[in-house]
Amino acid sequence: MSTMAQPRVNQDIEISRVNDALGAEVVGLDLSVPLDDATFENLREALQTYHLLCFRDQRELSEEAQVAFTERWGELEVFPEADKTKTANTIYNVANVSADGEHLGPNDHRSVYQKVNARWHTDSSYRYIPSFASLMLGIEVLPDEAKGGETEFSNMLLAYDALSDEMKALIEPLHMVHYYEFGRRLFPELPPVSPFEREAVPPTCHPLVRIHPDRGGRRSLYFTTNAGNEVSGMSLEEGQKLHRKLASQASRPEFCYLHRWRPFDLVMWDNRVLLHRAKHYDMARYRRVFRRTTVAGEVPFIGPFSRTADSATSEG
Ligand code: OGA
Ligand code: MN
Repeated sequence: MSTMAQPRVNQDIEISRVNDALGAEVVGLDLSVPLDDATFENLREALQTYHLLCFRDQRELSEEAQVAFTERWGELEVFPEADKTKTANTIYNVANVSADGEHLGPNDHRSVYQKVNARWHTDSSYRYIPSFASLMLGIEVLPDEAKGGETEFSNMLLAYDALSDEMKALIEPLHMVHYYEFGRRLFPELPPVSPFEREAVPPTCHPLVRIHPDRGGRRSLYFTTNAGNEVSGMSLEEGQKLHRKLASQASRPEFCYLHRWRPFDLVMWDNRVLLHRAKHYDMARYRRVFRRTTVAGEVPFIGPFSRTADSATSEG
């Protein structure tokens, strides 16, 4: 029997939970070579169960291999910003270091963009069809003694479940306005959105309650703090007050997992059910470089009334 070109087998992979709220670590898997279908199905199930997978030691993962692995999950999302990308507009250089390797000052716009990520968010909520998942490779991570620089994740299935009945009833029919430009408004030193960005991602609304058909109709909270704070149907003040309450719910430690990066971790997370945020660190002192790819969503998501609206007939 030939020993050539056998698909990789799966028997040595270990997938283990890292936290009660979310997250699992995958060891013994080299993502730089194509995966067989059985292994991939294991990963798909694991992502559905744990919402976040950390693949350790992906030192050999080239840009091409990361793109190929990302494409196993679905179509790549194209970033709306022409100027933040490295070699393609599907590969996002999440870094305080330029593509040429220069350590950028904390006030360089490319660094300031990273600060927008320090607020709770889910990637591309400002799109009509938000992303499914993101994958980030830790190329240069902070040394052990450094403070901050972690990425924190919060489980919105658990956060929704733990809301009071009154709060659940209040948010049931509500939508939040998401807009890409909001991040720029947080940091007025950033240039205004370009006509290209404005056209690529106009403001959109999403239900605050997301229904998950792939989980038997289970509900989660869906909101962000980096893409707006207005709630449709409420005064600005009332909406912002509600928004602050939701943000403090997301921050409750029992829903959260703080990921301290090791070199060449590839972390994949499910944007449909998690929020995340970058923890502050000393940008002038430390270099921090990640390569991110994103799996696009397939359909606009469902809120409590979406199906009803589909089947409703209007008269007159
Ligand atoms: C992102 C992001 C988090 C981090 O790139 O979308 O949220 O820790 N990054 O840099
Ligand atoms: Mn993000």
